[in-house]
Amino acid sequence: MPKLSYLLGLTPYETWRLLRLRLPLLRNGPAWTPAELMSSPKHGRGIRFAELLLRQEQVVRRQMPWEPLDFADRRVVEIGCGPLAGFGPLAVFLGASMFASAEPEWDAELFFSAPVRDRYLRFFHADLCAAYGPRLDFTQFIAALRERMRIHRGGFESAPLEGPADIVLSQSCLEHVFPLDPTVARLAALQTKQTRFLHLVDFGNHYPTGNPFDGLYEQPPEDYIARRGKAINLLRAPDVVAAFTQAGIAARSIVSRTMKDTYAGKIHPWWRERYEDAALFTQLALVVGPAA
Ligand SMILES: C[S@@+](CC[C@H](N)C(=O)[O-])C[C@H]1O[C@@H](n2cnc3c(N)ncnc32)[C@H](O)[C@@H]1O
Repeated sequence: MPKLSYLLGLTPYETWRLLRLRLPLLRNGPAWTPAELMSSPKHGRGIRFAELLLRQEQVVRRQMPWEPLDFADRRVVEIGCGPLAGFGPLAVFLGASMFASAEPEWDAELFFSAPVRDRYLRFFHADLCAAYGPRLDFTQFIAALRERMRIHRGGFESAPLEGPADIVLSQSCLEHVFPLDPTVARLAALQTKQTRFLHLVDFGNHYPTGNPFDGLYEQPPEDYIARRGKAINLLRAPDVVAAFTQAGIAARSIVSRTMKDTYAGKIHPWWRERYEDAALFTQLALVVGPAA
């Protein structure tokens, strides 16, 4: 069960969702309801994906040459886009010829339902028009989403996705994939040397603690996962890059947030024997390739 302090930091609907997914009689309900999604500060704002992309490309550009991703006529793939199609609406609005994803919590009926259309997609569309110009009216936008998005309910590793992809994205997903290698092997099958990719990985504990690594390094990963459940795989940035390299994908990791000074825990030797501080205290990293 989540800690009380964590639950108190969530909206009532988010708390209710976490609890209902753990209560035996209610566990088989839908992954999300419109009310839960719309009340979430994270999920309720579609334009967040444009903001994330701006921020991530800015961080990458400080470390290496990087041309902004151009979605026009591109085939875009996202791993684990979430219940509201992640970067999909942004990519389609900006002209992607196809957006494909695999997401275990995908529910197409929910996505195209009246509450999601009126309380999420209309706002997202208005914000996209303000940021990029009125490329599509709302009716055209919805039609384009229906036509160009192909989202499979299930894991990326076994989804019937067709390559080659021009652009591959993921946002806080790779750290949740158990095990990661089959997903990276799937990526290798979908990508070419020209495929541009940008994966934001969050290596923190995913709890609103003072330091994002609080409680995480005090024991080996198996013990942490046994106690907290299979929520995060506990790979560190060098492991993710190594998985890409072994699958034949040339990737580079770029630090997007380091959080060391406020960590006060006692680091278990399991971690000390395997990682330098730089790997241990990188909370956010971008796994990227090629520059243009
Ligand atoms: C933290 S959420 C991020 C969702 C979305 N990218 C966003 O930023 O809102 C992690 C997502 O990864 C998905 N996920 C977990 N394992 C997966 C897998 N094997 N293949 C595809 N998606 C997966 C989860 O269902 C969840 O939606």
